[in-house]
Amino acid sequence: MSGEILLDIQDLTTVFPGPAGELKAVDGLELQVRAGEVLGLVGESGCGKSVTALSVLGLLPSPGRVAGGRALFAGQDLLTLAPASLRALRGASISMVFQEPMTSLNPVFTVGRQVAELVSAHRDVSSQEAWDQAVEMLGQVGIPEPEKRARAYPHQLSGGLRQRVMIAMALGLSPRLVMADEPTTALDVTIQAQILHLLRSLQEQSGASVLLITHNLAVVAQMAGRVAVMYAGRLVEQAPVGELFQEPLHPYTRGLLACLPSRSPGRGQRLPTIAGIVPPLDALPPGCAFSDRCPERFAPCQEEEPALVEVAPGHGVRCYLHHRLSRRQKRAAA
Ligand SMILES: Nc1ncnc2c1ncn2[C@@H]1O[C@H](COP(=O)(O)OP(=O)(O)OP(=O)(O)O)[C@@H](O)[C@H]1O
Ligand SMILES: [Mg+2]
Repeated sequence: MSGEILLDIQDLTTVFPGPAGELKAVDGLELQVRAGEVLGLVGESGCGKSVTALSVLGLLPSPGRVAGGRALFAGQDLLTLAPASLRALRGASISMVFQEPMTSLNPVFTVGRQVAELVSAHRDVSSQEAWDQAVEMLGQVGIPEPEKRARAYPHQLSGGLRQRVMIAMALGLSPRLVMADEPTTALDVTIQAQILHLLRSLQEQSGASVLLITHNLAVVAQMAGRVAVMYAGRLVEQAPVGELFQEPLHPYTRGLLACLPSRSPGRGQRLPTIAGIVPPLDALPPGCAFSDRCPERFAPCQEEEPALVEVAPGHGVRCYLHHRLSRRQKRAAA
């Protein structure tokens, strides 16, 4: 938990137009990524993980809009940076790995050419040097016969090799921050493990920070030092990974963990799930966004949203079970 803060997301709010006004896909998010750490960002589908990353990277699809907040990267606010400056950062200082490499790689160029173009865009080298560096980068991510594979088109490679190409592009230019959004979800289980291992070892060698977005807690357990849990666009809990798994405090986090196969009651029994579904953003309950699904809901939960409270060093939770009284009640009691 030492390490300076490299990316400091403050009060990020990102909205999409809805039938009756704007919907907050990300709502007042506070999230810090420290130098050299892997921060896991987890939560069910639709909770705002990808929108968070896309907002910070300036890649939010229209009609999405960042409505407020700051994203300080090494002191610069990415949300107000000129597009050209942000493009220069992206790819070099900040890079990305997405779920499906087929959509990120251009099908009409060889993978070697695409890696070489990235090198040329950020380094002052001849085209031959860029190609040689590209081949070297493909070799570093464990692609066999990199000279030969560099001349292949994306569709001629397996999914696992394509994702290695993406990782070569993401880590090859020694970025300070890597945003990895479900980097292995599209791959089968053995290849997933290999890719995670690769990502981890490259991260350790380079000292880059990684924001690892996934709905898979097993991946987080293997990879991350800290974990942040999102629900309906809000941060509901964050903690060092061991503490989160041993002592989850938010009923939502407990629900997510109970769904892990290793924690299931026994063979042949169904995995538990969290009751109900994530409500649409325009139908969130009042107060705590999780309250209508929460087995431990009590009086204040549907009155006012609880604040995120630090209950132990580095362990924050947004739940009245852990700070019994809302501010309003405290004021009333005073
Ligand atoms: N293009 C869009 N148009 C309208 N609303 C959108 C769009 N993209 C995202 N949203 C809204 O933002 C919310 C958060 O989406 P996001 O993609 O960040 O979820 P996620 O946590 O990445 O989920 P997943 O695990 O499925 O990738 C969605 O529930 C949806 O309401
Ligand atoms: Mg997503």
